Amino acid sequence: MTAIAEAQARAAWRVSDLERDRAWVFPLDEGASRHLAAIVRAAFDPDRPLFDYGREDFDLGPAGPVVAAAFAEAMEGRGLALIKGLPRAGLAEDEFRLLNWAIGLHAGVARPQGKASQYISPVRDAGTDYRSASGRGYSSNAKLDFHVDGCDVATLGCYNSALAGGETMFTSAISAYEVLAAERPDLAEIARQDFCFSRQNEEAPDEGPFYAQPLVDFEDGRLFAKWNRNRVQSAQRFDEAPRLTETQREAMDVMDAILRRPDLMLSLRLEPGDLQVFNNHAMLHSRTEYRDHADPAEKRLLWRLWLAPPAAPRLPESWRDFFRAVEPGVVRGGIRGHNHDAACQAFDRRQAESLGMRVAA
Ligand SMILES: [Fe+2]
Repeated sequence: MTAIAEAQARAAWRVSDLERDRAWVFPLDEGASRHLAAIVRAAFDPDRPLFDYGREDFDLGPAGPVVAAAFAEAMEGRGLALIKGLPRAGLAEDEFRLLNWAIGLHAGVARPQGKASQYISPVRDAGTDYRSASGRGYSSNAKLDFHVDGCDVATLGCYNSALAGGETMFTSAISAYEVLAAERPDLAEIARQDFCFSRQNEEAPDEGPFYAQPLVDFEDGRLFAKWNRNRVQSAQRFDEAPRLTETQREAMDVMDAILRRPDLMLSLRLEPGDLQVFNNHAMLHSRTEYRDHADPAEKRLLWRLWLAPPAAPRLPESWRDFFRAVEPGVVRGGIRGHNHDAACQAFDRRQAESLGMRVAA
């Protein structure tokens, strides 16, 4: 683990490290927050598709360096960052959505997130059954399994928090794997072998209904993690998917128990105006079940973006099937879904060019 520890030392945290050193929290001052509200109000046009906006439409001003530092922290530091103080009061839900989009335009190429090929998702309870064959957690109020999102880096911008519950949990995959390797080296070896993940009926026409990927792999001295128990279990409904072995099941159980150890698992309650930024290769995340407010206007709502940032490491070859590319500087990741049309492709190309990146085939 020595080489890993050097490349990702700061991401191998325990909760006490994050409590002692709050450098992963990035407060915006009053002036920066006011500036963001002003640029969003000036640019907001309810009839203009998000794809039509470009980076040049949003000068982040004094918030720019703070946003850049937060993304650097997520990619090269602790693996997660929390920006506090986005303007929330006085911004309508769609204006706040545009603010999240504007920040994303500066940070990377937004990626599609599901069957509808949507590039930004409202994380709110739409009554989805998380455990069904096409279930997704973000549109349910359920307690979620620990998992990674399908992209290099994701953001969650909090517009409303829940009446009760809905806490977000993060565990460092690097720390968790170190514990697993120390306590159960046999299962750490299993984690490096392929598991099958269901695509939950969201596969693009050129993708299969499930794919294989190890839970842990290494590239250039970095550890990369993949986890989503719900999708592993869901893949078992496919006859062509190899059956989970007893040892694999044990590895899943032991890993999930490690992820929830109090010294490893950080719990956060996102507040309105918070923007969570996290790296899905080094961080695993989860969420508690929640109870909503009665008033629809107050119900829990986070805007979620998935991004391919320009500065990202090469991925392991075993990541290629899902990410569709592993090279740095290439637009990769996301769930293309069923509607990745010419407008999506044009956006990908334009935004990639603006950030000096290439589009994957
Ligand atoms: Fe997630």
